[in-house]
Amino acid sequence: MDVQDVLKLADELVFAKTGKHLSSLQETILTGVWSSQKYEEIAENGKCSESHVKRVASDLWQIISAMLGEDINKSNLKATLERIYFSNNVSSFWKDVKIGRMNVCTETLHPPSAKQSSPPTQTSTEDNTQQKPQLDLRDAPDLGTFYNSPSSPLTTLETWILEQNCRLITIAGMAGSGKSSIARHLIPQIQTQFDRLIWRSLRTSPRLEITIKNIIQFLFDRTDINFPDNTDAQLSILIETLRENRCLIILDDLQQILSSGQLAGNYKPGYENYGTLFKLIGELPHNSCLILNTWEPPLDILTFTDDNSAVCLLQLTGLGEAATEILREKGLLDEERWPDLIELYQGNPLWLKLVAQTINNLFCGRVAQYLSYEPVLICEEVGQILQQHYQRLSEIEKQALAPICNETEPVSLTQLTAKFQGSQAELFKAVRSLVWRGMIEKNIRGDETVFSAIMAVKQYLNS
Ligand SMILES: Nc1ncnc2c1ncn2[C@@H]1O[C@H](COP(=O)(O)OP(=O)(O)O)[C@@H](O)[C@H]1O
Ligand SMILES: [Mg+2]
Repeated sequence: MDVQDVLKLADELVFAKTGKHLSSLQETILTGVWSSQKYEEIAENGKCSESHVKRVASDLWQIISAMLGEDINKSNLKATLERIYFSNNVSSFWKDVKIGRMNVCTETLHPPSAKQSSPPTQTSTEDNTQQKPQLDLRDAPDLGTFYNSPSSPLTTLETWILEQNCRLITIAGMAGSGKSSIARHLIPQIQTQFDRLIWRSLRTSPRLEITIKNIIQFLFDRTDINFPDNTDAQLSILIETLRENRCLIILDDLQQILSSGQLAGNYKPGYENYGTLFKLIGELPHNSCLILNTWEPPLDILTFTDDNSAVCLLQLTGLGEAATEILREKGLLDEERWPDLIELYQGNPLWLKLVAQTINNLFCGRVAQYLSYEPVLICEEVGQILQQHYQRLSEIEKQALAPICNETEPVSLTQLTAKFQGSQAELFKAVRSLVWRGMIEKNIRGDETVFSAIMAVKQYLNS
């Protein structure tokens, strides 16, 4: 590796990170450090003060460190660059996809000019208005029937993405509430605004490295990439790619990497590094967007401040009136009782479909007859879904949920404290976590907050 290789590699890394090529002072610094000069000598060559050289050098080391995923400074620059230049690390990744085969990614990853895009890209001036985005929807469900309400969350999502430039969106809701469907129906509405769009399910709980590798291979349209082993380095490649191109990534079934038996939103052991991915995507500037579908939101998204408008949470609470269309489609009778059935199952489209089947099978479609057995939960399939949710709860959540379900009226924290064995702090945590999971609802009564279990959960626990 000679100094020209170093300058070329450093220029690529700096350009990928900042959109600017190396300045002549940065080149002088690299050339000087490469031939073991002191900052004093480099300052003389660069015709500026030593303190200025030190400042510029320090910024440069930071950029290169971030891109390579390891700490670079004056004393280790040469050894480190030489080591990783030929090894399986980020430098060889960038050397491979950006230097060795310079055109590969720029030919296939160019944002159409209609798209809003500020990050640097060598092809942004091309006229690609007609170009369709590349989609990978292998893991996505079919479009299917979709009933939309006037206050549709679909519109909310569109606004967040297209007008507010949201970078991280979490769609949370219990199983069957329509998370996958809404994300799937969002795609045709917004796809022309993206260069690349990928849907991945975390159903099989893949490790972060697998997920990132999968996404990067799709974004670069290549499977023969020399991929770094180090997770930080992989993350930095992903973020750079999301800066250079406008990508929409949908990660479905995120609850599969979150743990059971603990308060909501904690990762399973070994999956904590997904949190770093979400944090970087939420906090760093780029034009891409990550959508997470999950039963409960990961705790990290709580740590984003309220004024970070690039990070949004959509909690799905059922279809409301639009759910009547599902009951109509299933041919149910007793239309005047439909609102009761919808309320009982929280407008959850999957639960309503399953219950409608039971009503057709056992009661010839008579909703009133079905409801006359309330509070017995007759539909076994819905029972199984609720059981899966219940089994995920921590012990203190189960303790807090029982008295809430026993009451006919919503209860305040003061009332709950009297019925709860553990400390007040534990109770507060448990209640907050249950709200977070969508299993209980929070309302205001007079000047206090009161809590009630959603009716299906109550029915499940009491039958
Ligand atoms: N708005 C909707 N209109 C009609 N059917 C819907 C709607 N949303 C969801 N569904 C149906 O409800 C079922 C559950 O939806 P899904 O998106 O898979 O839920 P989740 O991903 O939250 O578990 C699917 O059969 C889906 O087709
Ligand atoms: Mg789903």
